[in-house]
Amino acid sequence: MDSIIVKGNGPLSGEVPIAGAKNTCLKLMCAALLSDEPLTLTNVPRLSDVATLGSLLESLGCEVARLADGRAMMISSADVTNLTAHYDIVRKLRASFNVLGPLVGRFGEAVVSLPGGCAIGARKVDLHLTALEALGATIDLREGYVHATAKNGLKGAEISFPFVSVGATENALCAAVLAKGTTVLRNAAREPDTVALAHCLQGMGADIEGAGTDTIVIRGVDRLHATTHRVIADRIELGTYMIAPAIAGGSVELIGGSRAIVAALADKLEEAGVEIVETDRGLSVSHKTGRVRAVDVTTAPFPGFPTDLQAQMMALMCTADGVATLEETIFENRFMHAPELIRMGAKIDVHGGTAKVTGVVQLRGAPVMATDLRASVSLILAGLAAEGETRVNRVYHLDRGYERVEEKLSGLGAQIERVADHG
Ligand code: EPZ
Repeated sequence: MDSIIVKGNGPLSGEVPIAGAKNTCLKLMCAALLSDEPLTLTNVPRLSDVATLGSLLESLGCEVARLADGRAMMISSADVTNLTAHYDIVRKLRASFNVLGPLVGRFGEAVVSLPGGCAIGARKVDLHLTALEALGATIDLREGYVHATAKNGLKGAEISFPFVSVGATENALCAAVLAKGTTVLRNAAREPDTVALAHCLQGMGADIEGAGTDTIVIRGVDRLHATTHRVIADRIELGTYMIAPAIAGGSVELIGGSRAIVAALADKLEEAGVEIVETDRGLSVSHKTGRVRAVDVTTAPFPGFPTDLQAQMMALMCTADGVATLEETIFENRFMHAPELIRMGAKIDVHGGTAKVTGVVQLRGAPVMATDLRASVSLILAGLAAEGETRVNRVYHLDRGYERVEEKLSGLGAQIERVADHG
């Protein structure tokens, strides 16, 4: 297992290309199961989660071909031979649960392992299952697996989600595109990833209206066809690299980024004193002098402040001038980076879903442990601002969601390297 060593090294400068979005790409890959004609994706991020989902699709009988150096992918689901998604893969990658909707939608049956809990919370799938039941599937839970059947196909229905779930909206959307009749999803997710999924499905011939609003209307069609779809820029990677110059100082241009997909973060960074300018190629983010001001943040579904940027924002607030309150409303256990940041000299009090962060003048490097993907990168960001060396252990989490983070940051002048751990 590798570690990353970061040394606080002053201001950053240069440019970073923003990769295709992990959470979009994974759902598009699942959607490829809906057609017997191929789906070609471009701007595919080179991440271990993408590779893991590729293996799951292959285990179902799909052909998954990597093209253009791994930057494009062709998925053919013409010969799906197996309708069971095994625990071994689903437990590693929760997004694999999103093969359920496409499989039941196209084949009328599927057996998919329950994903189980994970480090950031219980992450139940009840909303996914009630949505499929509303569409006419029979759901049985046996030996840790969901057995879903709809022998005569799914039928359109009105589904009102009690709260916003990205994954459940996307599973229901995929299940509904081949259902008979009209489906209405209310209180649907408005995340750019969900909108991109709808656009891709439309490219495959689906009839969908309202993606990006809280009501999505889907009129079932008989079959979907081949298309080519470009994966949108990763707003969480973009947001992470926006926070880097805010915490370390300097000025960076984020190629391929746009303000619309990170507006809630951009507003908060500006309130904190960071300068953000849209350029022809993306976004330019600068913070030239002194500490940023403390700002309060509450996570919320899109267009609110993303939970996937809460850890990175906490790292920034650790060195801000003043006291910041960070409230996490999406996941019940997403402050595991706090004790690690405290090891670096941060002052953080966590009570339930609220963290009070009192900014300090200087963080100090320390060995720290990464507990999940976004926590890992928050510790790297803190390391950029710390005096001395920060060693982030267990960085395999990082490779799930960030392409070559050490290369991108060292390109900006950061002192950062990956080392192999022994023992
Ligand atoms: C997606 O997870 C993302 N993952 C997460 O990114 C992201 O944090 C999350 O959306 C929120 O934006 C992917 O897209 C692969 P939810 P998802 O269903 O779909 C509860 C990252 O770091 N809930 O919107 O699983 C759930 O427990 C990852 O890249 C139920 O109770 O999130 C959570 O508290 C982490 N029952 C809340 O809803 C359900 O059936 C929102 O979860 C479904 C969800």
